[in-house]
Amino acid sequence: MRESKIKPAGKASLNYEGKDYELPVFAGTQGPNVVDIRKLYDQADIFTYDPGFTSTSSTESNITFIDGDKGVLQYRGYAIGDLAEHSTFLECCYLLLYGELPNGEQMAKFDHSITHHTMVHEQLATFFRGFRRDAHPMAIMCGVVGALSAFYHDSTDINDPKQREVASHRLVAKLPTIAAMAFKYHVGQPFVYPLNKLGYTENFLRMCFSVPAEEYVVNPVLAKALDTIFILHADHEQNASTSTVRLAGSSGANPFACIAAGIACLWGPAHGGANEAALKMLEEIGTVDRIPEFVAKAKDKSSGFRLMGFGHRVYKNYDPRAKAMQVQAHAVLDELGLHDDPLLKVAMELEKVALSDPYFIEKKLYPNIDFYSGITLKALGFPTSMFTVLFALARTVGWIAQWKEMLEDPHQKIGRPRQIYTGPTERTYVPMPKRK
Ligand code: SDX
Repeated sequence: MRESKIKPAGKASLNYEGKDYELPVFAGTQGPNVVDIRKLYDQADIFTYDPGFTSTSSTESNITFIDGDKGVLQYRGYAIGDLAEHSTFLECCYLLLYGELPNGEQMAKFDHSITHHTMVHEQLATFFRGFRRDAHPMAIMCGVVGALSAFYHDSTDINDPKQREVASHRLVAKLPTIAAMAFKYHVGQPFVYPLNKLGYTENFLRMCFSVPAEEYVVNPVLAKALDTIFILHADHEQNASTSTVRLAGSSGANPFACIAAGIACLWGPAHGGANEAALKMLEEIGTVDRIPEFVAKAKDKSSGFRLMGFGHRVYKNYDPRAKAMQVQAHAVLDELGLHDDPLLKVAMELEKVALSDPYFIEKKLYPNIDFYSGITLKALGFPTSMFTVLFALARTVGWIAQWKEMLEDPHQKIGRPRQIYTGPTERTYVPMPKRK
């Protein structure tokens, strides 16, 4: 069990209906303090109101820290820029799961465990045959990942730390295999088994792009770029899909079902589906001269149109991942000789126009991680429908780390928000013949 590290930091007072209520304030190691309202309803018979949880901290966590105003993102205290430059995705998986960077022996042991969990039960392949070939790969991911709990009963007891660890390693290891199978099924090619002699991301690229008809050699530049992209997507504090995983886990649901719930939430275009939507938007814009038309539409509320890949609930400054994504976009496009990709030109011009437009400046709308990822993933050879699958593959380790932390929290209880009710007050049932 994890001991709490929050520290008392004074009091807040609330005056309501002529009565004063003292509310404890706590401090963490960095970031805003919190007002503890856990006893407010009992003491004052009122709820707080915060749709979308814009000002609500749902938990104590020591995994990921974001400062939206300064554009800061840290995994266990390490800056995302440092990790993107010096680390690997699998090393970041260890860091997120265990809290420290591994030494040589720990990394070798972790790598061996993950590598030897990459295969899936052979019967899982039959699940794919039930989907139409044109099924969206995210629909397949929701179904197949949820079904893992039908195969791995020996790692579904959430109260057994050993089973929690086995389930965590299984999910980190098997998501790339399942994602590659979803891709292969979508394009009508045979599934490719993992190859233990390859690294995590090289293995994934080979399972996606190799065919029986010819040798496949992994391009190390592209593998490094994708590995870095996975690092950038690995975790992000209490975002919508992570909160979904925590809420599902708080009921005692098994880890495979919780991760499937996270995948379902990530699919939405306001969240992880934005990379697919952002590329479709760039393709719709098509050329630089059409940018003003789309920027005007994004500023016109009645249009319902938003610039996909722009804006963020927390970052009111540049998303630090967007900068690192732009670097990877250039690295991949240069390696593939696509540096004059028209979509990249549109993206860079759109970013320039939007960042100088008063509307976007005033609303603090900057490119987020999804703005450049679509261009890069398309250049790597993935169809647009696979973009969010790749996001889910990378975010699975973050979801699991948060799920484990939630279960190890001594204060953990089932999540159950309340509401302000504005529906009909009590009324008498009217039999059908008497209704108007
Ligand atoms: C991710 O939470 C996370 O950490 C998520 C994520 C992660 O790693 O898990 O970072 C991944 O989901 C990134 C975000 C991907 N989504 C998109 O790119 C979709 C486009 N962006 C938005 O729809 C929007 O910006 C959100 C959903 C990301 C944030 O929405 P908020 O915080 O609820 O902000 P809002 O909708 O209240 O917008 C604030 C204002 C509004 O205008 P007003 O009502 O104040 O007049 O800004 C406007 C919005 O109309 N606005 C936009 C806009 N985003 C917000 N206007 C035009 N284009 C946009 N993209």
